[in-house]
Amino acid sequence: MDSLLSKGDYERQNDLTRDARMDWWRKARFGMFVHFGLYSQYGQHEWAMTQQNIPIAEYEKIADSFNPKPGAPREWAALAKKAGMKYMVMTTRHHEGFSLWDSKANPYNSVNYGPHRDIVREFVDACREFGLGIGFYSSLMDWHHPDGWRCAFDTEARRRFNDYITQLNTELLTNYGKIDILWYDVSAPMESWEGWDSLERNQKMRQLQPHIIINDRSRLPEDFGTPEEHVTAADRDWEACMTFNGLSWGYVDSAQAVNYSYNAQRIIRMLQTCASGGGNLLLNIGPKPDGSVPDDAVEPLTKVGAWLAENGAAVYGKLVKNKGEDSQWFGSNGISSATSDGRCVYLWHWIWPVNGVTAVGGYMTAPKRVYLLKDGAPVEFEHKGHRILLKNLPNTSPDTHAGIGVIAMEFDVRPEYTFATYYPQLHGGRDIAGDNKI
Ligand code: GLC
Repeated sequence: MDSLLSKGDYERQNDLTRDARMDWWRKARFGMFVHFGLYSQYGQHEWAMTQQNIPIAEYEKIADSFNPKPGAPREWAALAKKAGMKYMVMTTRHHEGFSLWDSKANPYNSVNYGPHRDIVREFVDACREFGLGIGFYSSLMDWHHPDGWRCAFDTEARRRFNDYITQLNTELLTNYGKIDILWYDVSAPMESWEGWDSLERNQKMRQLQPHIIINDRSRLPEDFGTPEEHVTAADRDWEACMTFNGLSWGYVDSAQAVNYSYNAQRIIRMLQTCASGGGNLLLNIGPKPDGSVPDDAVEPLTKVGAWLAENGAAVYGKLVKNKGEDSQWFGSNGISSATSDGRCVYLWHWIWPVNGVTAVGGYMTAPKRVYLLKDGAPVEFEHKGHRILLKNLPNTSPDTHAGIGVIAMEFDVRPEYTFATYYPQLHGGRDIAGDNKI
């Protein structure tokens, strides 16, 4: 191992390589989180072990009945691909402490127990087959390891436990070829990056995988923030991780969960908040005990994928972060939201204007071309004052998948835009448009 950098030097070095490392991730925008482990068999949340105070000896027994069907990770990857997702992150070992790979450091694993198979290997192969980026979720907290709590107050236990975590992640980042993301979670019970040896460990991980992207949950900021169960833009790279139902990351009965689950429209709205705010959406599925995809995720994700196949330009690629407090509003109006790559503005119509006309205010610049994103059909328009009038629209939404039609407005250069220029009430009393009100 090369000599260790100070925290400052380490972070400066990461800053320098970040744009190159994260280019694909920033364009990808949409990934699948997969929570799969022994807890999937309980079907009562992935925290069942602690929330229900299940004794370790009793919990360990379910390792024997853990038997995902062959090819399960292929099903997840096939669905992710179909949904227009570009990468996947799987729980290689959740807080329960069970490793889903052939770990030498942790004998409590899926090769020694249950299926006697390396699920991580199957996951990696499936991602590669479907051309998806590969992310490993790795819990820091461990309820099964004897030092998982003692490490908080016993120096020797801390050393052992940190070595253990390093060994696990070294295995993961050594034995499976190129890995794109290391996704840490729950740094308890220690409360500092020093306690967790995060500086040393993460440097080592980057030596193993120089291109890797690391999230912010090892008590170092690293490459991206991880808002959980809310989609909120930040001033750095960020990825909102969301359960599919607001209830559980691990499997829960689909027939009941479906009533709480996201539909295609809600998912596309989350994608818009991400794409306009410079972030990604990592949407979770909790596979069934046999590894198959939960039923309630299939239809919404399939619809989202069909929508993205036609409207992906509004989501992927070099989109710019919308300015203004509320990115939902920038450059659009109350029935639509916008994303933009700087030269083209995409208006996502949540509600299609059924009378065939609508307008967006605040544009000082005229577009040169306006069209329906799905098929390029031209939209009639007029730039009048600071308004762009859109005319002769179809009376029903042109989108047959989710009803969310996207209108693209192409400009020669980045359009000049100021919200509500005719209404000085919103500009601290300054009448910006003046006599130019038309
Ligand atoms: C939480 C939970 C965990 C889940 C994670 C995903 O921190 O502890 O169960 O895996 O969020 O972001």
